[in-house]
Amino acid sequence: MRLAVLASGRGSNMEAILAAIDRGDLSAEAVLVLSDQNGAAVLHKARSRGITAVHLDPKAFSGSRAYHLKMVELLRESRADLVVLAGYMRIVGRTMLEAFPNRILNIHPSLLPAFPGLEAQKQAIEYGVKISGCTVHFVDAGMDTGPIIAQRAVPVEEGDTPDSLAARILVQEHDLYWRVIKLRGEGRLAVDGRRVMVDGSLCKEL
Ligand code: GRF
Repeated sequence: MRLAVLASGRGSNMEAILAAIDRGDLSAEAVLVLSDQNGAAVLHKARSRGITAVHLDPKAFSGSRAYHLKMVELLRESRADLVVLAGYMRIVGRTMLEAFPNRILNIHPSLLPAFPGLEAQKQAIEYGVKISGCTVHFVDAGMDTGPIIAQRAVPVEEGDTPDSLAARILVQEHDLYWRVIKLRGEGRLAVDGRRVMVDGSLCKEL
């Protein structure tokens, strides 16, 4: 499986995916990393491992469609089978969705549909939930709204700050994302409307 990663920042989820490949847990090759942020740590991390990493500046294009057409072109050139968003802070849009139907995944640090969008961990603490977590889902045209593939619950603890909760959730993100990518690569996911079946089961624990 040829993987492309879209990311805007630090890139710890990308690193966890690469680590799973290195361990032999995930049979895949990272062929391209794209970032909308110049100088993003994820670009340096990818390049230091010899992975092609490109800054694609949305402001350098006449509009969102032109930006996404370029993105599709680069992804097609890389012959990516699957596009994984790992801390990519933009809406993906129709152009990408039509080019890669059911082939774009995202990870989000809450139990969706609760707390979509920015600062999900802060939203969870301020709302007062006792349990949060992370979600891996197929990407659709909305913000963190696509069909849910897998989730992990993480308790909110006494005295948690957004940062301490984020760190605890991140441990689960790093262990969950590659497992979902592996299932996708092995053709073990089926989408039926909003429901995603894993090996024919709706609630398979990963
Ligand atoms: C993660 O918490 C991810 O769930 C969210 O953005 C963060 C990215 O972190 N979408 P990293 O860049 O993978 O370290």
